[in-house]
Amino acid sequence: MISDRMRRIHDFTRNMVSAIANVSLYAPDHRQVHRLCSKAHENLHDAMAGEKELFFLRIEDELIFNNTPLESSMSLGKFNQILASRGIGHIKFLCDVSPQEIRTLAVSLSGRIAFSDGVRSTEHIRLGKIDIPSSNDDDDLNEQEDRLRIALEDIPMYEVKAFADMHESIRKNEKISVNGISSIVDSLIGHFRQTAMPLLAIAPLRLLDEYTYTHSTNVCILNIAQAMSFGVRGSLLHEIGVAAMLHDIGKLFIPEEILAKPRKLTLEEMDIIKQHPLKGANHLLGMAGIPKLAVVCCFEHHLRFNLTGYPTVRSDWQQNLVSQMTAVSDYFDALRTRRVYRGSLDFDKVAGMMIDISGTELHPALTRNFLRLLARLQEQPDNHLTRSPIT
Ligand SMILES: [Fe+2]
Ligand SMILES: [Fe+2]
Repeated sequence: MISDRMRRIHDFTRNMVSAIANVSLYAPDHRQVHRLCSKAHENLHDAMAGEKELFFLRIEDELIFNNTPLESSMSLGKFNQILASRGIGHIKFLCDVSPQEIRTLAVSLSGRIAFSDGVRSTEHIRLGKIDIPSSNDDDDLNEQEDRLRIALEDIPMYEVKAFADMHESIRKNEKISVNGISSIVDSLIGHFRQTAMPLLAIAPLRLLDEYTYTHSTNVCILNIAQAMSFGVRGSLLHEIGVAAMLHDIGKLFIPEEILAKPRKLTLEEMDIIKQHPLKGANHLLGMAGIPKLAVVCCFEHHLRFNLTGYPTVRSDWQQNLVSQMTAVSDYFDALRTRRVYRGSLDFDKVAGMMIDISGTELHPALTRNFLRLLARLQEQPDNHLTRSPIT
């Protein structure tokens, strides 16, 4: 059985991961960031239980706490990924660590502020650095990916804010403006025109909060790629992108404990999750500036090709093709996300799983086209899409 101390350590990593995601979504001094960091500080203080220091050591996918491997969980996996991406091999927390130092750590781990020498130790937080290996053979590709990553990270700086503000307004039941979403979609479409390998863009964003910006952006990128491969351009392409950005907006009305639960959901919890398409569509319906396509797509994105799935619809329901496109992108992104805590799935396995359910759960022609698009990318050596999410 998990001890009280270990539970506190798990709470600490969960609050840290949320704080880091919130720094990226809002701002380093947002009240949500302060709240989560002081919770993380409290967890750490309780776990310290009078000792002088706590020590975390990262060994590949495992996090060792004071010489004991921690039981894996989604937030622990993410925390580990974040540490790896910043080249941190171990962290020592000394007993007088302050909430302010915890917040400094969260801000620097988020990458929101570029530190000239990366993430730094503070008086009571000692970081041990490792070198991040890079292959010389793939220098050109790495360089191209880096450029793309930097370009896409430029978008979040001001546009993630627009997305986060929109979420906040929806939570408070205020009117929302679609302008922020429109400019994100425009930027993404713009990047597609500029680069030969636009799909590479989806992985570097993986470190952010998957339920909000990352997942929506990934589905948006994958939808735009599908639509463009069919020759869709102009305002329809833009609407398809907006619909993808908003498809999971109904999750804002689902309790966070259920969304972030690392264990299997109960039937009651599943029923609550299944309300998100209807809740989202209801919310978007009638809002000025929201394309009707976004409302439809929000409502239908968990419907399957054979009309099972949810919500329940009449047997003669005609599912919109863009909703079916979104279902394909959503399924793929969900599989990739699962890899973090359910073991690795290589591209062939993902493709096999998608083929297996095409014709029943997924639209067969859209699935084949989607896999063709990805297979083209797979031919590129060492690409982000078909290898492990960035660490
Ligand atoms: Fe969904
Ligand atoms: Fe989704």
